[in-house]
This record gives sequence, C-alpha cells and structure tokens, in this order.
Amino acid sequence: MKFTLNLMAASAALALSLSAQAGEVEVLHWWTSGGEAKAAQGLKASLQAKGHTWKDFAVAGGGGDSAMTVLKSRVVSGNAPAAAQIKGPSIQEWAREGLLQPMDEVAKAENWDGVLPKVVSDIMKYQGHYVAAPVNVHRVNWLWANAEVLKKAGVKAAPANWDEFFVAAEALKKVGVIPLAHGGQSWQDFTVFESVALGVGGADFYRKALVQLDPATLGGPTMDKVLETFRKVKSYTDKNAPGRDWNLATAMVIKGEAGMQLMGDWAKGEFVAAGKVPGKDFICAAAPGTAKSFTFNIDSFALFKLKNKANQQAQRDFASAVMSPSFQELFNLNKGSIPVRTDLKMDKFDDCAKLSNADFLATAKSGSLVPSIAHGMAVPSATEGAIKDVVSQFWNNDTVTVAQTKQRLLSAAKSL
Ligand code: BGC
Repeated sequence: MKFTLNLMAASAALALSLSAQAGEVEVLHWWTSGGEAKAAQGLKASLQAKGHTWKDFAVAGGGGDSAMTVLKSRVVSGNAPAAAQIKGPSIQEWAREGLLQPMDEVAKAENWDGVLPKVVSDIMKYQGHYVAAPVNVHRVNWLWANAEVLKKAGVKAAPANWDEFFVAAEALKKVGVIPLAHGGQSWQDFTVFESVALGVGGADFYRKALVQLDPATLGGPTMDKVLETFRKVKSYTDKNAPGRDWNLATAMVIKGEAGMQLMGDWAKGEFVAAGKVPGKDFICAAAPGTAKSFTFNIDSFALFKLKNKANQQAQRDFASAVMSPSFQELFNLNKGSIPVRTDLKMDKFDDCAKLSNADFLATAKSGSLVPSIAHGMAVPSATEGAIKDVVSQFWNNDTVTVAQTKQRLLSAAKSL
C-alpha cells in the first residue's frame, strides 16, 4: 500500500514537472508556399521534439506585408505571439517599444557571437542584447530561368547584363513564351527594382541611393537609367501579372510558360519542391550586372516578452532550435537560402547555394554586400513603405515620368 502511494506521488510529481516544462510557442510567419511550408515544418518538428507545442500563426502574403499588419493589431491588443518573423531595422523598432525579450542566456551558452557574421549579429541585437534569432541568409539579386525554354529560344547562357537580358527576352518572345514571369504586387515590383538598381548602378550607387538615401544619388543621372531600364523590363511581363503571387510566377517558369523570373532564392525552394534540379532543369544566375554584388535578406524571429514561465522556457528552446546546426541545414536545404552560421559545411547544398555562400563571403570582404531594401533590411519600415509606393506607381502607370518619380523618391526618402 505504502509502495503504491509512493508510486502515485512520484508519478504525480513527474506529470507536474513535465507540464511545468512543456510550453507553447506561437510563431507568426508568412511561409505558406510549397517550399516555404516544407521548410517551416522542420522548425515545428524540432520544437515538438523538445516536448513543446507549436501554435502556428501563418499569415499568407509574400514579402510579409499582411503578416506585419496582423502582428501590429495583435500586439496592440496585448496579445503578442512568442516569436514573429521580423527583419532588419524593424527589430530595433519593436525593441525600442520595450516589447522584445533578451535571449542573452541562450546566445551566450551557444556562442552566437562566435558563429554569426557581425553584419548579422548586429541586426539581431538591441543595445548589445540579442532580441532575435536568425534563420538564414537569402540572396535577393537572382535570376531564375527554365533551361529547356532558354535552349529552345537559342539563348546560350543566362544574361550577364541588362543588354543581354533584353536580347534574351526578345528571343523568348519570338518562340511564344512570356519572357519574364512577374507577380504585380508592390513588394515584387520593388524586388525587381532593387536588382535593376544594383545591376545598372553598381553596389556603391545602390548603397548611396537606397541605404543612405543620399539626395544627390537618388535624384542623379544614374537613377534615370535605372528607371528607364526598369520600365523596359516591365514590357516583357504578361498582362495577367497584376496581383499574381510570386510562387505562381515561379510556377510559370517551372512549367515553361515563362522563361525567366527575377526573385530572391526562396524561388529555388519552389523549384526544389517541384523536384527540379539546378543546372539541369533550371538555371540560377546573379541578376543581370550583379554577379559581383549581393543583396542580403536575413530571416529572423524576434522574441516577444511573455508572462507564463513554461512558455518562456519554450521560447528559449525555440531560439536555440532556430540556431542549431541540424535545423539550419535542413531548413535552408528546403528554403533556398544558406545557413547563417559560418561554421557549417555546405556539402549537402546545391551549386546555387554554394555560389551564394561564396559570394556572401567575397562581397562581405569587397564591400559590395548590401542590404535588400525591398525585404526590410536597409531602411526604417516607414521609409521603405514610402519608397516602395513610388516605385510601384512608376511600374504600374506608364504616364508617370522618370523626372516625377525621382522627385517622389526624394520626398519619400525624407518621409520619416
Ligand atoms: C522572406 C522570405 C519569403 C519571401 C516570400 C521574404 O521577404 O524573407 O523568407 O520566402 O519573402 O514570401
């Protein structure tokens, strides 16, 4: 009898301690396409392996604009998720409000400072404390192409500059395919714009115009060339582009309905999820004129302050899972990006990822590694939104002139 009672007490204590440890992590993200969802699944699995519950808070919409709107209303109503996909300068904006939870204990124990490039750890810290955990490095300045379609059109290699791009686009048009797959949503217009700006103007121009918002550069003659080229690129998209999601544009390239797409390497996640092989079925190349530069876009999860002890522990375990070598490898194989840790081997990755990795390191040294403005890495979110609107208006309305747009860019840059 005594033994049975002891046993009951022991199992009650065990149940209590397990339930005290097991928490829930609600995660806000916008990874809903095929490749993205597959990648996110790995994160959920690693958290569940630690005994916690994953509460999915997915808000569809490429580029995350809708997710950010929903996040704001949730936080305003005092109901922040444990982790939210927040990037770049926005991390600072949320931290300044006093809403983010420092993760120094985990970061220190796992030596985040030692394994992250400084350009990354600086973004994750607020006043010297880690308040976000990075997942990957996406490169934005990519061009994706259907290998067979290019061959059919007689295009021997991916265009290395914008002149070659237009020659290839003409050739694709002649064989009856849409030269450039595009989804007409403002963040996608902006994604194409930044690659054109980088390819036409180079990394120094890009940095001065789109990171430092230097008025002389924003309003200078190179911007004329950028905008003219950008408008010409649009003439090679199809009339059904408005409103189309980015992954549907990628699917057009996968199916051979379109020849090329200008998009960050989350597009590779779609090719891979469709069973396509780089170098054989599809080609990845730096966007025209950008082979020696790199626009980076780092996905990260900012961690919100929580009250519940078990959930706090689950949140720490989440941060640790995000940075773990095994998760970083698996996630990035599916996501199209590269691990953010510098101590991982790249042998399991394909040639696109290996090129990205080599270029990330090389451009960090050469000074042509620049933050993506279209993906929240370069300027405060309000400024980004204002510039994005100007770019989209120019893309969508042919009566808006280059001169007008330069003026609007200058006012948008001052809109803080
Ligand atoms: C994010 C990617 C995502 C893409 C499309 C980007 O801003 O960084 O993780 O796949 O948007 O939604």
